[in-house]
Amino acid sequence: MADTVSRPGAQEWVPSRPTLPRLRSAVDDCRGCELYADATQAVLGDGPDDAPLLVVGEQPGDKEDLAGEPFVGPAGKLLDKALESAGIAPESVFRTNAVKHFRHEGTRGKQRIHKTPGRAHVVACQPWLLAELSVVRPVGVVLLGATAGQAVYGSSFRVGASRGTRMEWPSSLEIAATPEWVVPTVHPSSILRSRQRDADLEAFVADLRVAASLLP
Ligand code: URA
Ligand code: SF4
Repeated sequence: MADTVSRPGAQEWVPSRPTLPRLRSAVDDCRGCELYADATQAVLGDGPDDAPLLVVGEQPGDKEDLAGEPFVGPAGKLLDKALESAGIAPESVFRTNAVKHFRHEGTRGKQRIHKTPGRAHVVACQPWLLAELSVVRPVGVVLLGATAGQAVYGSSFRVGASRGTRMEWPSSLEIAATPEWVVPTVHPSSILRSRQRDADLEAFVADLRVAASLLP
């Protein structure tokens, strides 16, 4: 069936001379894809504008959509704990998501059920991520899970093969200041769902230690 949804992409809503405050006030008006329609608000990244490390998740969840801030729910708590275990101060990190509006379908109790954003949403939303990167200019980037990985490396990216390794920023994705390295890993919500949480958390922390060792 023909896809009749309008997805012009975010570019026309991204301020041409971005700062974090400018991005934050502009993102809520974005109509780059249809996800704005069922979300409470857009959720831009948060953290120091000169953070040496920028972490990319998937999309805001139920709690983040309501709060307007990234990683304030259970996955964010686990991320903070893991960062600390890896020797990275959580407040020194800029956290954001590949997609800025919450995609969901149905409810479980009062919570709306997360639905993984599609390739078209990730592509449509990419200008916001690139704008954040051009403002923060991090030394390194950690990609949490497949959606974040695919936002940077394209749809062939797989977490399993690359997690915990130092990768190069792809030359196909031009930004003002290229990060020196990228370290992919799993998404913390996969650990929350896991039946072997302790082992998975340990492996996640080990991946984050690779990033910690590369930080200035
Ligand atoms: N999961 C994400 O990927 N991002 C958030 O902000 C919260 C949960
Ligand atoms: Fe714009 Fe991204 Fe929201 Fe789509 S998900 S409307 S591209 S901010």
